[in-house]
Amino acid sequence: MSQVGNLRIDGERLWGSLMEMAKIGATPKGGNCRLALTDLDREGRDLFVRWCREAGCSITVDRMGNIFARRPGRDDSLPPVMIGSHLDTQPTGGRFDGVYGVLAGLEVVRSLNDTGYEVEAPIEVAVWTNEEGSRFAPAMVASGVFAGVFDLDYGLSRKDVDGKTMGEELQRIGYAGEAEVGGRPIRAFFEAHIEQGPILEAEDKVIGVVTHAQGQRWYEITLTGQEAHAGPTPMPRRKDALVGAARVVEAVNRIGLAHAPFACATVGMLQVHPNSRNVIPGRVFLTVDFRHPDDDVLSAMDAELRAAAAEAAERGGLELALEQIWYSPPIAFDADCVAAVRRAAGANGYSHRDIVSGAGHDACYISRVAPTGMVFVPCENGISHNEIENAKPEDLAAGCQVLLEAVLERANA
Ligand code: GLV
Ligand code: MN
Ligand code: MN
Ligand code: MN
Repeated sequence: MSQVGNLRIDGERLWGSLMEMAKIGATPKGGNCRLALTDLDREGRDLFVRWCREAGCSITVDRMGNIFARRPGRDDSLPPVMIGSHLDTQPTGGRFDGVYGVLAGLEVVRSLNDTGYEVEAPIEVAVWTNEEGSRFAPAMVASGVFAGVFDLDYGLSRKDVDGKTMGEELQRIGYAGEAEVGGRPIRAFFEAHIEQGPILEAEDKVIGVVTHAQGQRWYEITLTGQEAHAGPTPMPRRKDALVGAARVVEAVNRIGLAHAPFACATVGMLQVHPNSRNVIPGRVFLTVDFRHPDDDVLSAMDAELRAAAAEAAERGGLELALEQIWYSPPIAFDADCVAAVRRAAGANGYSHRDIVSGAGHDACYISRVAPTGMVFVPCENGISHNEIENAKPEDLAAGCQVLLEAVLERANA
């Protein structure tokens, strides 16, 4: 038994809350669609806020719409230990990505309340706005503003495909708060998350002790050719932007494979103009997502992409616009926080291993302003960003117990 004695989180209560939240934006295949700052995101936030108030927390919302639910400390002047993640999802998202980290934080607070356990430092459960970067790019933008990586105007001016800004949408859903974004000390930050990859399940481990997160580069590419009639225009005369884009897609995949086994390279979004079956495509917009744990390799991938896109444009007689819109460097998490997670896993007899996060997380940015650690639990077949994303209640409970003990280690230190 660990130093927190017999304090146990309630796995059934955690599961019940996850399933209740999953009703908001439920999709036919059993997943969730709660895009950032939509009405459904507001509903999810409202439910979280209600639960936190019922658990005796006070609520603060900052100007990026980040929500902080605070349980006072015995010494309430101490910087808080913060727990959190996100409630927004991908368009075909699952029930656990992000939500687990938020509701595990709430479960920590509820468990402490069950026994009236007084913690030395305040505990705050954070909901970070727009982690996914699906509706508004880039990802992790609001935790990025909190950590001083982006300025507030940049965050509020991010636009969705319809031209709506994050600032406008925060106002519309009633989550444009008044608190300053960041600029205050945090004693430690912990984020629990499903792994979103296959390693823990394959190795039959319950807990991933996250030591690092890989770096990411996001690009936006537009290839412009000329729209023309699909019948009378001879093949040699065409400036077909989609053919050029196809070559870029192929090159992105080739670059990923060339830097195996750790590189990941994805074209996730393609917009063809005018998208009519008998018009030669005159313009294509596409996005590229590169990831690697080593910054030097990411730089090499960058150079290879630029060369391949220039060649595709040249070959097709196309104009090329290529912009890197986001760079998030590889992260090493705080040694003491990582050790606290490892200790808590060991103290409970949970099988565990060190792991590098393949996904981005708000913890990556918060690690710049606070000692930070992450707890991973397995998910079924390593599938995430998919409606069928699944995780076992007992693994989620184990991760939450580890979270509780790691948080208490830092909050009572
Ligand atoms: C966000 O979920 C990401 O890691 O891409
Ligand atoms: Mn997530
Ligand atoms: Mn995600
Ligand atoms: Mn993510």
